[in-house]
Amino acid sequence: MRVDSKVESDPLRRRLRRISASERMEEALGFIRQFHREVAGSRGLEVRLKEVRQSLRRTGTYEHTPEELAFGARVAWRNHARCIGRLHWRSLEVIDRRGTREPDAIATALFEHIRWAQGDGRIRSAITIFDPVSPGDLPPFVESRQLIQYAGHLRPGARVLGDPQTVESTRHAAALGWRPSGGEPSRFDLLPLLIRSAAGQRSAHPLPEGLVREIHLEHATETGLGRLGLRWYALPVVSGMILTIGGLEYPCAPFNGWYMGTEIASRNLADERRYDLLPEVAAALGLEAVDGSLWRDHALTALNEAVLHSFQREGVSIVDHHAASEQYMEFARTEEGHGRTPAGDWTWIVPPQASSACPVFHLDMQPRTEVPNYYWSRAVDGDDLCLWRDHEDHSKWWFRAHRIRHRVRRWLRTKGE
Ligand code: ARG
Repeated sequence: MRVDSKVESDPLRRRLRRISASERMEEALGFIRQFHREVAGSRGLEVRLKEVRQSLRRTGTYEHTPEELAFGARVAWRNHARCIGRLHWRSLEVIDRRGTREPDAIATALFEHIRWAQGDGRIRSAITIFDPVSPGDLPPFVESRQLIQYAGHLRPGARVLGDPQTVESTRHAAALGWRPSGGEPSRFDLLPLLIRSAAGQRSAHPLPEGLVREIHLEHATETGLGRLGLRWYALPVVSGMILTIGGLEYPCAPFNGWYMGTEIASRNLADERRYDLLPEVAAALGLEAVDGSLWRDHALTALNEAVLHSFQREGVSIVDHHAASEQYMEFARTEEGHGRTPAGDWTWIVPPQASSACPVFHLDMQPRTEVPNYYWSRAVDGDDLCLWRDHEDHSKWWFRAHRIRHRVRRWLRTKGE
């Protein structure tokens, strides 16, 4: 482990939701009620409400039981409007690591998470949860957006080598002495984990040799594609989001699912701001990049085929966008069956490939932002989150009124700053 001696201003504080003590109380009690309604039954509810109320009044915080924590993390997933894979929300494995605070120990726990979730290729969804924020304590957290990611090397006068999304992390890692494992920078260098300690110090923790499963990409029939030397990792572990449950913020709670093919093929490798590989792929397919020829569409389809084919060849879990859409439809039906309307953000749920051929394209969605949930920062999505008083199917107008009320409250609060 390498440690940065500089203590900088803490970027975490600026990302946390701003909620008043009374909103925190409301969210806490609302969550405890929900936990009892859905899981624990009415026994013990009143005692627990009283306990939480008192603890919040006295100390400004309270502690979730392991059962509440597990339920909260799963419901946060169920509530997350941008995720198409929520059919499986109940199966999330929750690893409770509250109390682990040393950066080295955190890194070790997260390597263990990766090992377990990757398994033998049949990926299992998991979340590892560390300490929540409490009055006077900003706990350590992972600064990297994902536990596993490729470096982006800035080169003067040339394109970024690798993933342009990680240029800043790559710079931080390099400042801590990290060098690509092959010596020379390449397109697919695994970055170390960047962790911020409670004292605000950044440290870099290289992923142990052999831990990360990566898949070499090739196409079943287009051999030229396999010669490009493309690859991707098996496990997406989002570590840059904050988990909020019952008014408590958990800034260090990395979670994983498995990939939908388009995330890699249509976005990570294809976006101009990412690997921008469509011209290279088209050339490998022998396509001429002529306007009006739909060469990008052909390249995208071939790249998607290659990703699905390669993961399947290696026995690593992956879902194509048609199957994922079907699963989302099933999720929506199951939720309705429980008297709940799933929150859905159409712009995120609809896959970037064959959109209108996927049933979700034609589905009406409510982009509700309900707690418990996961968010990046208050500026992006955190300040929109709020408690929904009941689980009835609200009318569009009720929904709009609620949003406006929430916005006014938020405005009143920020005005004072
Ligand atoms: N879109 C991100 C990526 O391409 C991963 C986000 C989470 N995805 C998932 N299937 N659980 O790396």
